[in-house]
Amino acid sequence: MNDLGTPANPLRVAIVGSGPAGFYAAEALLESGQTVFVDMFERLAAPFGLVRSGVAPDHPKLKQAIQVYQQIALSPDFRFLGNVTVGRDISVAELQSCYHAVLFACGAQTDRPLGVPGEHLPGSHAATEFVGWYNGHPDYQDIAFDLSHDTAMVIGQGNVAMDVCRILAKTPDELRHTDIAAHALEILAESKVRDIYLVGRRGPAQVKFTHPELRELGELADCDPVVDPRDLVLNPASRQELADRSNRAALKSYEVLQAFAARPAPIHRRRCHIVFLKSPLELIGDGRLQRVLLMRNRLVGDPGHQVAEPTGEMEHLDCGLLFRSIGYCGVAIPGVPFDTKRGVIPNRDGRVVDNTEVLPGLYVSGWIKRGPSGIIGTNREDSVLTVAAILADLPSLDASPKPAADHICPLLQRRGIRVVSYADWQMIDAAELRRGAAVGKPREKFTRLQEMLDVLPP
Ligand SMILES: Cc1cc2nc3c(=O)[nH]c(=O)nc-3n(C[C@H](O)[C@H](O)[C@H](O)COP(=O)(O)OP(=O)(O)OC[C@H]3O[C@@H](n4cnc5c(N)ncnc54)[C@H](O)[C@@H]3O)c2cc1C
Ligand SMILES: NC(=O)c1ccc[n+]([C@@H]2O[C@H](COP(=O)([O-])OP(=O)(O)OC[C@H]3O[C@@H](n4cnc5c(N)ncnc54)[C@H](OP(=O)(O)O)[C@@H]3O)[C@@H](O)[C@H]2O)c1
Repeated sequence: MNDLGTPANPLRVAIVGSGPAGFYAAEALLESGQTVFVDMFERLAAPFGLVRSGVAPDHPKLKQAIQVYQQIALSPDFRFLGNVTVGRDISVAELQSCYHAVLFACGAQTDRPLGVPGEHLPGSHAATEFVGWYNGHPDYQDIAFDLSHDTAMVIGQGNVAMDVCRILAKTPDELRHTDIAAHALEILAESKVRDIYLVGRRGPAQVKFTHPELRELGELADCDPVVDPRDLVLNPASRQELADRSNRAALKSYEVLQAFAARPAPIHRRRCHIVFLKSPLELIGDGRLQRVLLMRNRLVGDPGHQVAEPTGEMEHLDCGLLFRSIGYCGVAIPGVPFDTKRGVIPNRDGRVVDNTEVLPGLYVSGWIKRGPSGIIGTNREDSVLTVAAILADLPSLDASPKPAADHICPLLQRRGIRVVSYADWQMIDAAELRRGAAVGKPREKFTRLQEMLDVLPP
């Protein structure tokens, strides 16, 4: 037994990533009853991960989790080190030499490709890019979205696809008083998009949208949802899926689709067509996207396990703008094992493994642990489990005292990295809130690192 986690030898943990998984892990560590110090490394100058840069600007209530994270960050045993990319500015080996445990909560930073010809034509984008652009994520500010086309297509039927569709469908007045990035609002206000196709490879019983988000599509100021009632005819396996009491959420979504199908003819300027059982086969265009070749699918398999199988029946749809929204994907960090197929850090109950061998002192939580699914709250339970693994491992961890940020901060400074502390972030936050108040928005985000650093004293 060692004395790790006692006042004589505090447990020092580095958390990589400041999204929900990182903050819930910090909370569980700080409330564990052990003597623990947490240093949280974040590659951006702003904390909160996808709660800041993913959650849709017109869903402010869902960002309230930030209030909990703010409380955690104010703990005297917590330190935020923003603007530090682990694996680039500081290596994982360096972190390991300064901390007893390193916990990766770095999320899923990229998108999954469709893998069809023409996917990279101008006009075809990942939802990841569009979401980052309208939410002011600095990585995506130089991407140009050409909204001069009348038809847009979103591939995938999850909540991210729904967010993309809703942002395309809303009027400027519906977005003006949100924290949407100013440049995005300007471009969206000039959008010529009239028809948006929300395309699913499977059927109406298998959509991944949640029903409140789906219902919201029927409540927009200038957009009608359009569903062809013939598309809602179910095969026996899908009927069985919806009859399953544990699948109530899918039934509720199906009922919303039925209500959409029963609506009178569209009257608004925009239409969102929800279509099923279609997959893009090829994106076609001379120098830029002009049309999409779609394959019609049928469902095969047992209830709960049905997959889309191509029928051979094809159609073209003219379309100048396409977003693939078929899931996010994790990115490897140098020095840490990575499962390229699943886009996660391989782990057993949150302990990082290399093949079957557990790597002592390395842990994971959140989307980089289990893949890109689950809402904000899902990451709490996940992080609590990972922290339980750390605490269970205390007797076997290297218990020699670790210098933590006392060593790391001077090292980063020598490397020319301007670490953004939590106090720095509070200054940036206050400046964003002031900018927002001046234009009737909850906040006006800075979208460039330099703009944020300019707020801070030298
Ligand atoms: C577009 C979108 C909208 C969503 N909307 C909702 C919603 O409305 N409600 C809801 O409940 N859930 C929503 N979700 C799901 C929710 O955002 C996720 O469940 C959650 O953010 C995952 O948490 P995470 O901490 O694993 O990852 P993230 O939130 O992605 O956080 C990871 C953090 O790690 C940082 N990082 C990455 N690599 C490094 C590195 N090398 N060094 C340092 N830092 C690094 C990143 O910059 C990021 O800040 C949404 C997801 C998306 C994609
Ligand atoms: N408001 C909110 O609460 C909110 C908002 C945004 C995101 N989130 C959460 O964040 C998580 C991620 O959301 P997400 O929308 O990225 O993922 P998701 O819910 O997993 O949806 C992905 C969609 O892409 C489809 N797809 C996958 N591969 C495909 C392919 N090769 N071709 C065509 N379609 C393909 C899937 O269809 P199949 O079903 O056939 O695989 C599914 O419709 C989810 O848990 C979501 O609930 C929540």
